[in-house]
Amino acid sequence: VNSKVFINGKFLDPDQATVSVFDRGFLFSDSVYEVIHVDGNKLFLFEEHIERLKRSLSELDMDFPNYDFLTICQELLKISPVDYGGIYIQVTRGTQQPRSHFWHQKKLLPNVVAFAQSIKRPEKKALKAITYPDLRWGRCDVKSTSLLANVLAREEAAKNSCDEALLVSSSGWVSEGSSTNLFVCRNGVVKTPPLSENILPGVTRKFCLEVLNELAIPYKEEKLSKEELFNSDEVWITSSTKDVLPLESIDGIELKFEMENSLWEQVFNRFKEKKLKSLK
Ligand code: PDD
Repeated sequence: VNSKVFINGKFLDPDQATVSVFDRGFLFSDSVYEVIHVDGNKLFLFEEHIERLKRSLSELDMDFPNYDFLTICQELLKISPVDYGGIYIQVTRGTQQPRSHFWHQKKLLPNVVAFAQSIKRPEKKALKAITYPDLRWGRCDVKSTSLLANVLAREEAAKNSCDEALLVSSSGWVSEGSSTNLFVCRNGVVKTPPLSENILPGVTRKFCLEVLNELAIPYKEEKLSKEELFNSDEVWITSSTKDVLPLESIDGIELKFEMENSLWEQVFNRFKEKKLKSLK
């Protein structure tokens, strides 16, 4: 595939697209990112991702880089079309030598990277998850590239032939997945953890809540205990790479989920319809 990487204003071949080892993103994971979903070579919820990128940057006292990200995304998709996948965007605080924890009064230029990536279109199939301790820091609402706790959790899921790890705090609350937001439903009522510093405000989560509103399915944004997770009729996860998918087991325990006539199926069908209309 003839792909290119956008880096600081240029579209380069992947092996030419490099940053300094003194980049603060590399040394400290002092950087933020977005994954914008692409379906049929069209962008899904582009503005929402850019809004979140702005917020992540501002929370970390970084300026929004002076680039037209829509043009960058469209150019990347022109160079290498993506049937299903996403555009990854990362902005680091910049390169600083010598290495130093603080950057006070240093004028750093952000490093900005973007590339398109194809993934396999997810099957309409229930997934398996594990639970795993939530070892992350206290600002999970910022989409930073400090993902060590997330990748260790996701790797443990993979080792157990599972698709996702659901993160549980030391007090027993389930926040979200390693790279997904979480929904459960019981007796026709949907529940998802409220926005807080402990979860990422997922753009797919928000889209899914809009779908619930349209279908007049009642929902609550409330804290969710691990116990409740196992007592739910259905458990779904949402993300820019998965849309909305149900789970069939957690920690090897089968949920009594049947795809046919599930609430998930109703939501999934409306989600798909609404998504098609909003692709750009
Ligand atoms: N992850 N929670 C976490 C911790 C995430 O990393 C993500 C997204 C989500 C879902 O957010 P959204 O619906 O906006 O994609 C929730 C991306 C896809 C990633 O890291 O690859």
